[in-house]
Amino acid sequence: MATRKQFDDYMMPVYNPANFIPVKAKGSIVWDSKKKKYIDFASGIAVTSLGHCYPPLVKILNQQSKHIWHLSNALTNAPALNLAKILCQKTFAEKIFFANSGAEAMEGAVKTARKYANLNFGKNKNEIVAFNDAFHGRTLMTIALNGSERMTKGFGPLPSGIKHHPYNQIDGLEKMINKKTAAVVLELVQGEAGIVKAKRNFLSKVKKLCKQNNVLIIIDEVQSGVGRTGTLFAYEQFNIKPDIITSAKGLGNGFPIGAILTTDKIAEAMQVGAHGTTFGGNPLACSVAHEVIKTVSKKTLLSSVTKKEKLFIKRLEEINKKLDCFERINTAGLWIGCKLKITDSVNLDTVLKQCYKNGLMVLKANNNTIRIAPSLIIEDELIKSGLSILEKSIDQLQQA
Ligand SMILES: Cc1ncc(COP(=O)(O)O)c(C=O)c1O
Repeated sequence: MATRKQFDDYMMPVYNPANFIPVKAKGSIVWDSKKKKYIDFASGIAVTSLGHCYPPLVKILNQQSKHIWHLSNALTNAPALNLAKILCQKTFAEKIFFANSGAEAMEGAVKTARKYANLNFGKNKNEIVAFNDAFHGRTLMTIALNGSERMTKGFGPLPSGIKHHPYNQIDGLEKMINKKTAAVVLELVQGEAGIVKAKRNFLSKVKKLCKQNNVLIIIDEVQSGVGRTGTLFAYEQFNIKPDIITSAKGLGNGFPIGAILTTDKIAEAMQVGAHGTTFGGNPLACSVAHEVIKTVSKKTLLSSVTKKEKLFIKRLEEINKKLDCFERINTAGLWIGCKLKITDSVNLDTVLKQCYKNGLMVLKANNNTIRIAPSLIIEDELIKSGLSILEKSIDQLQQA
């Protein structure tokens, strides 16, 4: 039987997973190798948005697995074309590129923006403006975009031409976004920072400066997309028309896939051979993602995200009233950050451990925030039971 110790024996030590080993999951319930049951408020870091082993996805994956698994980009395939088509129908996009992860989609988005700027405005227009506390992935380009020392230390030299500005701060933006800027890379809700939304006046200023200076707006929707915030993509709620968005995480509900969505005009800059990836457009991934988009884009599903968000807020506020444990509760659909009041016994690590002990999976954001990102179709009863476990766990730690 697999054990946690084997992880230390065989895996590169970049992760420190929990002590138990999940072996089975269905909907929003996960069982470990000792048959212990957990309510899943984590969804594999905001990925399994339709729950684990969602029956229609299992069916589609089984069917596709009997037809074609892989072709490469030397050939095209119907699942990839179907997925590209539905993404274009349901968003601003006119052209799609398929990748395998969020970071890879972000890399490709930055390449696309630079190529577009280079061809249309000359080689000096190549700077990328990113924001403090961002999270765009773990490749060299994406850690350079993140900017924080925690993620970049020891990995230099990093790609150059990237500038950082404080998120939601207008002062100084004019100097940052100028004629040399190729693109602004932006999250509309910063997950890593604790579910922090972009402010209206900040976005207006970004939009205005981008328009004045012919700068593309790349919106990272890797975590915020595919229904997480209550619309298919978050940009629909922020009165902003992106030039490029990236998607991943929930797109494949756990089957790895990423995507770049953009316009015809921008895509024109990327001619044959300009970019590529062996597994991009994989038929298995695309057939699953097509069903995901079909399901998640339904109005009833999206409006239930907002209803479930309200249920979370109500119960979390009750917990806070009783235990005085949160400094702040931030939400963006079913993406929730509870900033903890840190005490001797209550901190992010102790809360996570106690939740696991009591049968609940939650996530971390920052170094002080409990992040909750459940399935978008989690049953209300499980939301209530999960939050009772959270309450019990914090209460036990406060008593310790
Ligand atoms: C906003 C955002 N962008 C990009 C990424 C990177 O995605 P991946 O881990 O699939 O490379 C993440 C992952 O957490 C993310 O949250």
